[in-house]
Amino acid sequence: MNHDEIIAATVAYVKEELRSAEGGHDWWHINRVWNNAKLIAASEEADLLVVELGALLHDIADSKFHDGDEEVGPARATAFLESLQVPPRVIEAVVNIIRYISFKGGNKKAAYTSPELAIVQDADRLDAIGAIGIARAFNYGGFKNRAIYDPGIAPNLSLTKEEYKKSTAPTINHFYEKLLRLKDRMNTATGRQLAAERHAYMEGFLEQFYKEWGGFTQRFH
Ligand code: ADP
Ligand code: NI
Repeated sequence: MNHDEIIAATVAYVKEELRSAEGGHDWWHINRVWNNAKLIAASEEADLLVVELGALLHDIADSKFHDGDEEVGPARATAFLESLQVPPRVIEAVVNIIRYISFKGGNKKAAYTSPELAIVQDADRLDAIGAIGIARAFNYGGFKNRAIYDPGIAPNLSLTKEEYKKSTAPTINHFYEKLLRLKDRMNTATGRQLAAERHAYMEGFLEQFYKEWGGFTQRFH
């Protein structure tokens, strides 16, 4: 199979696998990440097949929806790519993207890095901020039956990964706990540039949100 045939087969597979996914993690999320990844890759030195397959397969079995099991995604992607006879070297690079894309950074050193992971991670993070990011956050919050906002519940900026996963905080808190912090974690120049605009849009959204909520409310910063 050539590049285009592998990509077409993967698109068909991912669409089928994600047909009943929650709206923020559906095929359209994958489609946006794929497009952003190609855009970023145009200014980077990277293996485009690995970038595209990584973008297409990165959420194939998110552990959030599989009882925390981190191995379902890598296993499914490996089986699928082997069925297309994709070279083992490419499969390994793609599986590493799936494994390490959600790495939170912080003080710990990343266990794996690659130019292709850097690109797909930026593309995925871009889709979590800006207008799309706002839509996805409230969609996810609704899916989890979270409050939109509660002036009495302040964001917690030092949640561990486990606490963060279990958190039932209002969706506005997620902006402070995660979304507003993403622009400083971008890996590539193109990613940083795109993130700046989306970040400013979220700040404007929050200003307007508090204004509409009423004059006496506590504002988070
Ligand atoms: P990643 O898979 O890139 O680590 P997540 O799966 O945690 O990121 O988030 C995917 C989408 O779901 C993002 O748009 C994110 O904002 C949203 N999301 C995740 N957790 C929450 C939450 N607690 N409240 C609102 N939105 C959330
Ligand atoms: Ni994603």
